[in-house]
Amino acid sequence: MGRSLGVVIAIALAVVGPAGAATDPGERAYAEACASCHRVPSRVLRPYLSMTPDQRRQALDTLLKEHYAEDDAKRAAIIAWLEANHVRR
Ligand code: HEC
Repeated sequence: MGRSLGVVIAIALAVVGPAGAATDPGERAYAEACASCHRVPSRVLRPYLSMTPDQRRQALDTLLKEHYAEDDAKRAAIIAWLEANHVRR
């Protein structure tokens, strides 16, 4: 019983794999630091959609320094993940 559960988990991890969404450090950091309040990631980007990617990065960096992402590496990972996956016009 315990053993077959372990096998199932091992297979599930293998399927997700190193390129799987759950292993993106930005996604992980977002899940930990942001998702409890911002369930839909694309929504937090709405006020920034008219900006260029560079302007958006800058604006998010400034905001998130004082808004739940003080850690430089986590903040950068979150911003990159949002930019790559959740810019919806
Ligand atoms: C404790 C709840 C909470 C957490 C955690 C949180 N936020 Fe927010 N966030 C808010 C609230 C409240 C606002 C302002 C009201 C609004 O616009 O929804 C806001 C505003 C924002 C905005 C401004 C755009 C907007 O929708 O007004 C962005 C971008 C944002 N949050 C991103 C993040 C990110 C990224 C994280 C994780 C690092 C995060 N937030 C964590 C509650 C939270």
